Amino acid sequence: MKILCVVGARPNFMKIAPLLAEMSHDPQIRPVLVHTGQHYDPEMSDVFFRDLEIPPPDLHLGVGSGTQAEQTGKVMVAFEAVLEKGGADLILVVGDVNSTLACSVVSAKKGIAVAHVEAGLRSFDRSMPEEINRIVTDALSTYHFTTSRDADQNLLREGARKEGIFFVGNVMIDTLLRFSAKAEASPIRRDLGLNGDYALLTLHRPSNVDQAEPLRRIFSALEVVGKSLPILFPAHPRTRNMLEEFGVATTQEGLRMVEPIGYLDFIHLEKHARLVLTDSGGIQEETTVLGVPCLTLRENTERPVTLTQGSNVLVGNSTERILQETARVLEGRGGATRVPELWDGKASERIVARLRTIGGLA
Ligand code: UD1
Ligand code: UDP
Repeated sequence: MKILCVVGARPNFMKIAPLLAEMSHDPQIRPVLVHTGQHYDPEMSDVFFRDLEIPPPDLHLGVGSGTQAEQTGKVMVAFEAVLEKGGADLILVVGDVNSTLACSVVSAKKGIAVAHVEAGLRSFDRSMPEEINRIVTDALSTYHFTTSRDADQNLLREGARKEGIFFVGNVMIDTLLRFSAKAEASPIRRDLGLNGDYALLTLHRPSNVDQAEPLRRIFSALEVVGKSLPILFPAHPRTRNMLEEFGVATTQEGLRMVEPIGYLDFIHLEKHARLVLTDSGGIQEETTVLGVPCLTLRENTERPVTLTQGSNVLVGNSTERILQETARVLEGRGGATRVPELWDGKASERIVARLRTIGGLA
Protein backbone atom coordinates (compact mmCIF):
# COMPACT_ATOMS: atom_id res chain seq x y z
CA MET A 1 0.00 0.00 0.00
CA LYS A 2 1.69 3.17 -1.19
CA ILE A 3 0.80 6.13 1.01
CA LEU A 4 1.94 9.64 0.13
CA CYS A 5 2.44 11.52 3.40
CA VAL A 6 2.40 15.29 3.03
CA VAL A 7 4.24 17.83 5.21
CA GLY A 8 4.98 21.49 4.60
CA ALA A 9 5.06 23.66 7.70
CA ARG A 10 6.41 23.40 11.26
CA PRO A 11 3.34 21.90 12.98
CA ASN A 12 3.13 19.13 10.37
CA PHE A 13 6.42 17.57 11.40
CA MET A 14 5.31 16.62 14.95
CA LYS A 15 2.17 15.07 13.48
CA ILE A 16 3.79 12.98 10.74
CA ALA A 17 6.74 11.73 12.85
CA PRO A 18 4.85 9.09 14.88
CA LEU A 19 2.83 7.99 11.85
CA LEU A 20 5.99 7.36 9.83
CA ALA A 21 7.58 5.54 12.76
CA GLU A 22 4.52 3.31 13.05
CA MET A 23 4.35 2.64 9.29
CA SER A 24 8.03 1.74 9.22
CA HIS A 25 7.21 -1.44 11.21
CA ASP A 26 4.78 -2.60 8.56
CA PRO A 27 6.27 -4.36 5.52
CA GLN A 28 3.00 -4.03 3.60
CA ILE A 29 2.88 -0.25 3.82
CA ARG A 30 5.21 1.95 1.77
CA PRO A 31 5.12 5.54 3.00
CA VAL A 32 6.48 8.20 0.63
CA LEU A 33 7.24 11.47 2.40
CA VAL A 34 6.54 14.60 0.37
CA HIS A 35 7.78 17.96 1.77
CA THR A 36 6.14 20.85 -0.06
CA GLY A 37 8.76 23.35 1.15
CA GLN A 38 6.17 25.74 2.62
CA HIS A 39 8.60 26.22 5.52
CA TYR A 40 12.26 26.15 4.54
CA ASP A 41 14.46 27.95 7.10
CA PRO A 42 16.59 25.35 8.90
CA GLU A 43 15.02 26.30 12.26
CA MET A 44 11.48 25.98 10.80
CA SER A 45 12.09 22.62 9.08
CA ASP A 46 15.44 20.73 9.19
CA VAL A 47 15.75 20.85 12.97
CA PHE A 48 12.50 18.86 13.31
CA PHE A 49 13.73 16.09 11.03
CA ARG A 50 16.73 15.67 13.35
CA ASP A 51 14.90 16.08 16.65
CA LEU A 52 11.96 13.87 15.69
CA GLU A 53 14.00 11.24 13.83
CA ILE A 54 12.05 11.75 10.61
CA PRO A 55 13.74 10.24 7.54
CA PRO A 56 14.66 12.78 4.84
CA PRO A 57 11.76 13.55 2.48
CA ASP A 58 11.53 11.29 -0.57
CA LEU A 59 10.35 14.29 -2.58
CA HIS A 60 10.83 18.01 -1.93
CA LEU A 61 8.64 20.39 -3.91
CA GLY A 62 10.50 23.56 -2.88
CA VAL A 63 7.49 25.90 -3.16
CA GLY A 64 8.54 28.47 -0.52
CA SER A 65 6.53 31.53 0.54
CA GLY A 66 3.90 33.58 -1.27
CA THR A 67 0.38 34.94 -0.95
CA GLN A 68 -2.32 32.43 0.01
CA ALA A 69 -3.16 31.76 -3.65
CA GLU A 70 0.42 31.76 -4.88
CA GLN A 71 1.58 29.29 -2.26
CA THR A 72 -1.48 27.03 -2.57
CA GLY A 73 -1.29 27.15 -6.37
CA LYS A 74 2.41 26.29 -6.44
CA VAL A 75 1.87 23.27 -4.18
CA MET A 76 -1.05 22.12 -6.34
CA VAL A 77 0.93 22.29 -9.58
CA ALA A 78 3.95 20.52 -8.11
CA PHE A 79 1.89 17.86 -6.30
CA GLU A 80 -0.17 17.12 -9.41
CA ALA A 81 3.07 16.31 -11.24
CA VAL A 82 4.05 13.95 -8.41
CA LEU A 83 0.76 12.06 -8.68
CA GLU A 84 0.96 11.93 -12.46
CA LYS A 85 4.40 10.40 -12.30
CA GLY A 86 4.00 7.95 -9.44
CA GLY A 87 0.38 7.60 -8.34
CA ALA A 88 -0.54 6.37 -4.87
CA ASP A 89 -3.10 4.23 -3.08
CA LEU A 90 -3.85 6.90 -0.51
CA ILE A 91 -2.83 10.47 0.38
CA LEU A 92 -2.31 11.24 4.06
CA VAL A 93 -2.51 14.90 5.08
CA VAL A 94 -2.22 16.40 8.57
CA GLY A 95 -3.37 19.64 10.18
CA ASP A 96 -4.65 22.74 8.46
CA VAL A 97 -1.90 24.54 6.58
CA ASN A 98 -1.97 25.58 2.92
CA SER A 99 -0.02 22.47 1.91
CA THR A 100 -2.75 20.31 3.52
CA LEU A 101 -5.47 21.99 1.49
CA ALA A 102 -3.52 22.07 -1.79
CA CYS A 103 -2.64 18.37 -1.79
CA SER A 104 -6.18 17.36 -0.80
CA VAL A 105 -7.69 19.26 -3.72
CA VAL A 106 -5.26 17.71 -6.22
CA SER A 107 -5.73 14.17 -4.86
CA ALA A 108 -9.52 14.38 -4.81
CA LYS A 109 -9.54 15.52 -8.43
CA LYS A 110 -7.23 12.66 -9.37
CA GLY A 111 -9.63 10.24 -7.70
CA ILE A 112 -7.15 9.19 -5.00
CA ALA A 113 -8.63 8.92 -1.51
CA VAL A 114 -7.47 11.43 1.10
CA ALA A 115 -7.09 10.60 4.80
CA HIS A 116 -7.04 13.69 7.04
CA VAL A 117 -5.36 13.46 10.42
CA GLU A 118 -6.69 16.08 12.88
CA ALA A 119 -9.96 16.37 10.98
CA GLY A 120 -13.09 18.18 12.15
CA LEU A 121 -11.54 20.97 14.22
CA ARG A 122 -13.45 24.22 13.76
CA SER A 123 -12.91 27.71 15.13
CA PHE A 124 -16.03 28.90 13.27
CA ASP A 125 -13.95 31.91 12.26
CA ARG A 126 -13.50 32.09 8.52
CA SER A 127 -11.18 35.07 8.76
CA MET A 128 -8.50 32.49 9.65
CA PRO A 129 -6.92 30.95 6.55
CA GLU A 130 -6.67 27.67 8.45
CA GLU A 131 -10.44 27.46 8.94
CA ILE A 132 -10.95 27.52 5.17
CA ASN A 133 -8.23 24.89 4.82
CA ARG A 134 -9.94 22.67 7.42
CA ILE A 135 -13.39 22.92 5.86
CA VAL A 136 -12.22 22.21 2.31
CA THR A 137 -9.83 19.43 3.30
CA ASP A 138 -12.54 17.70 5.31
CA ALA A 139 -15.10 18.08 2.53
CA LEU A 140 -12.73 16.31 0.15
CA SER A 141 -11.36 13.64 2.50
CA THR A 142 -12.69 10.09 2.51
CA TYR A 143 -11.23 9.23 5.92
CA HIS A 144 -11.30 11.54 8.93
CA PHE A 145 -9.09 10.85 11.95
CA THR A 146 -10.14 13.01 14.89
CA THR A 147 -8.60 14.13 18.18
CA SER A 148 -11.80 14.89 20.10
CA ARG A 149 -15.48 14.10 20.03
CA ASP A 150 -16.51 17.68 19.19
CA ALA A 151 -14.62 17.21 15.91
CA ASP A 152 -16.76 14.16 15.09
CA GLN A 153 -19.88 16.24 15.65
CA ASN A 154 -18.59 19.04 13.41
CA LEU A 155 -17.92 16.56 10.62
CA LEU A 156 -21.31 14.89 10.90
CA ARG A 157 -23.02 18.30 10.84
CA GLU A 158 -21.17 19.11 7.62
CA GLY A 159 -22.34 15.88 6.02
CA ALA A 160 -19.29 13.63 6.36
CA ARG A 161 -19.98 9.86 6.24
CA LYS A 162 -20.17 8.41 9.73
CA GLU A 163 -18.27 5.26 8.64
CA GLY A 164 -15.30 7.40 7.54
CA ILE A 165 -14.84 9.17 10.90
CA PHE A 166 -12.43 7.60 13.39
CA PHE A 167 -11.85 9.11 16.83
CA VAL A 168 -8.27 8.02 17.46
CA GLY A 169 -6.62 10.57 19.76
CA ASN A 170 -3.87 13.07 19.09
CA VAL A 171 -0.69 12.36 17.12
CA MET A 172 0.85 15.60 18.45
CA ILE A 173 0.64 14.05 21.91
CA ASP A 174 2.16 10.78 20.63
CA THR A 175 5.23 12.85 19.78
CA LEU A 176 5.15 14.77 23.05
CA LEU A 177 5.12 11.55 25.09
CA ARG A 178 7.61 9.73 22.88
CA PHE A 179 10.21 12.47 23.21
CA SER A 180 9.47 13.67 26.74
CA ALA A 181 12.56 12.09 28.34
CA LYS A 182 14.85 13.47 25.63
CA ALA A 183 13.26 16.90 25.95
CA GLU A 184 13.66 16.81 29.72
CA ALA A 185 17.39 16.21 29.26
CA SER A 186 17.82 19.35 27.10
CA PRO A 187 20.35 21.85 28.45
CA ILE A 188 18.48 24.81 26.94
CA ARG A 189 17.61 26.62 30.18
CA ARG A 190 21.23 26.48 31.26
CA ASP A 191 22.37 27.57 27.79
CA LEU A 192 20.03 30.55 27.90
CA GLY A 193 20.90 31.36 31.52
CA LEU A 194 17.26 30.99 32.62
CA ASN A 195 17.44 30.36 36.34
CA GLY A 196 14.07 31.16 37.86
CA ASP A 197 10.50 31.55 36.64
CA TYR A 198 9.83 32.72 33.11
CA ALA A 199 7.02 33.01 30.58
CA LEU A 200 7.28 31.46 27.12
CA LEU A 201 5.72 33.40 24.24
CA THR A 202 4.94 32.46 20.63
CA LEU A 203 3.02 34.55 18.12
CA HIS A 204 2.33 34.12 14.43
CA ARG A 205 -1.40 34.41 13.62
CA PRO A 206 -2.07 37.02 10.92
CA SER A 207 -4.88 38.42 13.14
CA ASN A 208 -2.26 39.31 15.75
CA VAL A 209 0.82 40.15 13.75
CA ASP A 210 -0.19 41.39 10.30
CA GLN A 211 -1.58 44.70 11.59
CA ALA A 212 0.17 47.23 13.78
CA GLU A 213 -2.61 47.78 16.33
CA PRO A 214 -3.07 44.25 17.73
CA LEU A 215 0.70 43.81 17.78
CA ARG A 216 1.12 47.06 19.75
CA ARG A 217 -1.62 46.05 22.22
CA ILE A 218 0.10 42.73 22.86
CA PHE A 219 3.50 44.36 23.28
CA SER A 220 2.06 46.92 25.72
CA ALA A 221 0.96 44.01 27.89
CA LEU A 222 4.33 42.29 27.53
CA GLU A 223 6.07 45.43 28.70
CA VAL A 224 4.19 45.20 32.01
CA VAL A 225 4.46 41.40 32.39
CA GLY A 226 8.21 41.52 31.66
CA LYS A 227 8.80 43.70 34.71
CA SER A 228 7.87 40.88 37.08
CA LEU A 229 8.43 37.76 34.94
CA PRO A 230 11.09 37.42 32.23
CA ILE A 231 9.59 36.49 28.85
CA LEU A 232 11.35 34.26 26.35
CA PHE A 233 10.10 34.85 22.82
CA PRO A 234 11.23 32.51 20.03
CA ALA A 235 9.97 34.63 17.15
CA HIS A 236 8.36 33.13 14.05
CA PRO A 237 9.83 34.65 10.85
CA ARG A 238 6.44 36.16 9.88
CA THR A 239 6.32 37.96 13.22
CA ARG A 240 9.92 39.12 13.11
CA ASN A 241 9.25 40.66 9.68
CA MET A 242 6.07 42.41 10.83
CA LEU A 243 7.66 43.75 14.04
CA GLU A 244 10.34 45.33 11.89
CA GLU A 245 7.85 46.65 9.36
CA PHE A 246 5.70 48.33 12.05
CA GLY A 247 8.70 49.49 14.08
CA VAL A 248 7.46 47.80 17.27
CA ALA A 249 10.21 47.88 19.91
CA THR A 250 11.35 44.47 21.11
CA THR A 251 14.23 45.60 23.28
CA GLN A 252 12.08 46.28 26.34
CA GLU A 253 13.13 45.11 29.78
CA GLY A 254 12.26 41.50 30.53
CA LEU A 255 11.62 40.45 26.92
CA ARG A 256 14.13 38.28 25.16
CA MET A 257 13.51 37.62 21.48
CA VAL A 258 15.38 34.66 19.98
CA GLU A 259 15.20 32.60 16.78
CA PRO A 260 12.62 29.76 16.59
CA ILE A 261 13.74 26.88 18.79
CA GLY A 262 14.03 23.16 17.94
CA TYR A 263 11.40 20.72 19.21
CA LEU A 264 13.23 19.07 22.12
CA ASP A 265 14.48 22.38 23.52
CA PHE A 266 11.11 24.02 22.99
CA ILE A 267 9.21 21.27 24.83
CA HIS A 268 11.71 21.54 27.68
CA LEU A 269 11.04 25.28 27.88
CA GLU A 270 7.29 24.76 27.64
CA LYS A 271 7.25 22.20 30.44
CA HIS A 272 9.21 24.37 32.85
CA ALA A 273 7.49 27.68 32.04
CA ARG A 274 5.49 29.44 34.74
CA LEU A 275 3.14 30.56 31.99
CA VAL A 276 2.78 30.13 28.23
CA LEU A 277 1.40 32.95 26.09
CA THR A 278 0.63 31.82 22.55
CA ASP A 279 -1.60 31.91 19.51
CA SER A 280 -0.40 28.50 18.30
CA GLY A 281 -2.82 25.61 17.86
CA GLY A 282 -0.45 22.82 18.85
CA ILE A 283 0.91 24.58 21.92
CA GLN A 284 -2.62 24.80 23.39
CA GLU A 285 -2.72 20.99 23.22
CA GLU A 286 0.77 20.40 24.57
CA THR A 287 0.23 22.69 27.59
CA THR A 288 -3.02 20.82 28.31
CA VAL A 289 -1.09 17.57 28.70
CA LEU A 290 1.90 19.15 30.44
CA GLY A 291 -0.41 20.94 32.90
CA VAL A 292 1.22 24.30 32.23
CA PRO A 293 -0.98 27.44 32.38
CA CYS A 294 -1.69 28.68 28.85
CA LEU A 295 -3.13 32.02 27.80
CA THR A 296 -4.19 31.94 24.17
CA LEU A 297 -3.96 35.29 22.41
CA ARG A 298 -7.04 34.64 20.28
CA GLU A 299 -10.80 35.20 20.52
CA ASN A 300 -11.62 31.60 19.63
CA THR A 301 -10.09 28.16 19.38
CA GLU A 302 -10.73 25.14 17.18
CA ARG A 303 -9.55 23.04 20.15
CA PRO A 304 -12.28 23.58 22.78
CA VAL A 305 -11.19 20.53 24.77
CA THR A 306 -8.13 22.55 25.87
CA LEU A 307 -10.51 25.05 27.49
CA THR A 308 -12.83 22.52 29.12
CA GLN A 309 -10.14 20.09 30.31
CA GLY A 310 -6.86 21.96 30.04
CA SER A 311 -5.47 25.14 31.53
CA ASN A 312 -6.16 27.13 28.38
CA VAL A 313 -7.87 30.54 28.65
CA LEU A 314 -8.72 32.73 25.65
CA VAL A 315 -7.50 36.31 26.16
CA GLY A 316 -7.57 37.77 22.64
CA ASN A 317 -5.15 40.60 22.04
CA SER A 318 -6.46 43.20 24.48
CA THR A 319 -3.77 44.58 26.78
CA GLU A 320 -6.13 44.54 29.74
CA ARG A 321 -7.27 40.93 29.39
CA ILE A 322 -3.74 39.66 28.92
CA LEU A 323 -2.68 41.46 32.11
CA GLN A 324 -5.73 40.34 34.11
CA GLU A 325 -5.29 36.66 33.24
CA THR A 326 -1.53 36.77 33.70
CA ALA A 327 -2.07 38.14 37.22
CA ARG A 328 -4.54 35.34 37.92
CA VAL A 329 -2.03 32.68 36.87
CA LEU A 330 0.80 34.28 38.86
CA GLU A 331 -1.42 34.31 41.94
CA GLY A 332 -1.72 30.53 41.49
CA ARG A 333 -5.38 30.61 40.49
CA GLY A 334 -5.00 28.46 37.35
CA GLY A 335 -7.43 25.50 37.19
CA ALA A 336 -6.46 21.84 37.37
CA THR A 337 -6.01 20.04 34.05
CA ARG A 338 -7.10 16.63 32.83
CA VAL A 339 -5.63 14.70 29.92
CA PRO A 340 -8.32 14.50 27.21
CA GLU A 341 -9.73 11.15 26.15
CA LEU A 342 -7.34 9.02 24.04
CA TRP A 343 -4.48 11.56 24.23
CA ASP A 344 -2.44 8.62 25.40
CA GLY A 345 0.42 8.32 22.91
CA LYS A 346 -1.28 5.64 20.83
CA ALA A 347 -3.10 7.64 18.17
CA SER A 348 -0.68 6.70 15.36
CA GLU A 349 -0.99 3.04 16.28
CA ARG A 350 -4.77 3.32 15.91
CA ILE A 351 -4.49 5.25 12.65
CA VAL A 352 -2.08 2.79 11.02
CA ALA A 353 -4.22 -0.17 12.12
CA ARG A 354 -7.19 1.53 10.44
CA LEU A 355 -5.14 2.26 7.30
CA ARG A 356 -4.37 -1.45 7.06
CA THR A 357 -8.09 -2.21 7.04
CA ILE A 358 -8.72 0.53 4.48
CA GLY A 359 -5.98 -0.92 2.26
CA GLY A 360 -7.35 -4.45 2.63
CA LEU A 361 -4.20 -5.58 4.45
CA ALA A 362 -5.81 -6.53 7.73
C1 UD1 B 1 1.76 28.69 8.49
C2 UD1 B 1 0.34 28.15 8.50
C3 UD1 B 1 -0.24 28.22 9.91
C4 UD1 B 1 0.67 27.54 10.91
C5 UD1 B 1 2.07 28.11 10.80
C6 UD1 B 1 2.97 27.33 11.70
C7 UD1 B 1 -1.04 28.52 6.49
C8 UD1 B 1 -2.13 29.33 5.91
N1 UD1 B 1 -0.53 28.96 7.65
O1 UD1 B 1 1.70 30.07 8.83
O2 UD1 B 1 -1.49 27.57 9.94
O3 UD1 B 1 0.18 27.74 12.20
O4 UD1 B 1 2.53 27.98 9.44
O5 UD1 B 1 4.18 27.94 11.94
O6 UD1 B 1 -0.66 27.53 5.93
N2 UD1 B 1 8.89 32.45 6.48
C9 UD1 B 1 10.27 32.42 6.50
N3 UD1 B 1 10.88 31.20 6.56
C10 UD1 B 1 10.20 30.03 6.60
C11 UD1 B 1 8.80 30.09 6.56
C12 UD1 B 1 8.16 31.29 6.51
O7 UD1 B 1 10.93 33.46 6.48
O8 UD1 B 1 10.83 28.96 6.66
C13 UD1 B 1 8.23 33.78 6.46
C14 UD1 B 1 7.98 34.29 5.05
O9 UD1 B 1 8.13 35.68 5.06
C15 UD1 B 1 6.51 33.94 4.84
C16 UD1 B 1 5.94 34.09 6.23
O10 UD1 B 1 6.97 33.66 7.10
O11 UD1 B 1 5.89 34.78 3.91
C17 UD1 B 1 4.68 33.28 6.46
O12 UD1 B 1 4.87 31.89 6.13
P1 UD1 B 1 3.63 30.97 5.69
O13 UD1 B 1 4.06 29.58 5.58
O14 UD1 B 1 2.95 31.59 4.53
O15 UD1 B 1 2.63 31.16 6.88
P2 UD1 B 1 2.87 31.02 8.44
O16 UD1 B 1 2.56 32.32 9.08
O17 UD1 B 1 4.18 30.40 8.68
N1 UDP C 1 7.47 24.79 18.37
C1 UDP C 1 8.85 24.58 18.37
N2 UDP C 1 9.66 25.68 18.42
C2 UDP C 1 9.19 26.95 18.46
C3 UDP C 1 7.78 27.14 18.46
C4 UDP C 1 6.95 26.04 18.40
O1 UDP C 1 9.31 23.44 18.35
O2 UDP C 1 9.99 27.90 18.50
C5 UDP C 1 6.58 23.60 18.29
C6 UDP C 1 5.54 23.45 19.37
O3 UDP C 1 6.06 22.78 20.50
C7 UDP C 1 4.47 22.64 18.67
C8 UDP C 1 4.52 23.15 17.24
O4 UDP C 1 5.82 23.75 17.10
O5 UDP C 1 4.83 21.27 18.68
C9 UDP C 1 3.44 24.16 16.96
O6 UDP C 1 3.66 24.75 15.73
P1 UDP C 1 3.20 26.23 15.36
O7 UDP C 1 2.92 27.00 16.59
O8 UDP C 1 4.19 26.76 14.39
O9 UDP C 1 1.86 25.97 14.52
P2 UDP C 1 0.33 25.75 14.92
O10 UDP C 1 0.27 24.65 15.91
O11 UDP C 1 -0.20 27.04 15.41
O12 UDP C 1 -0.32 25.40 13.62
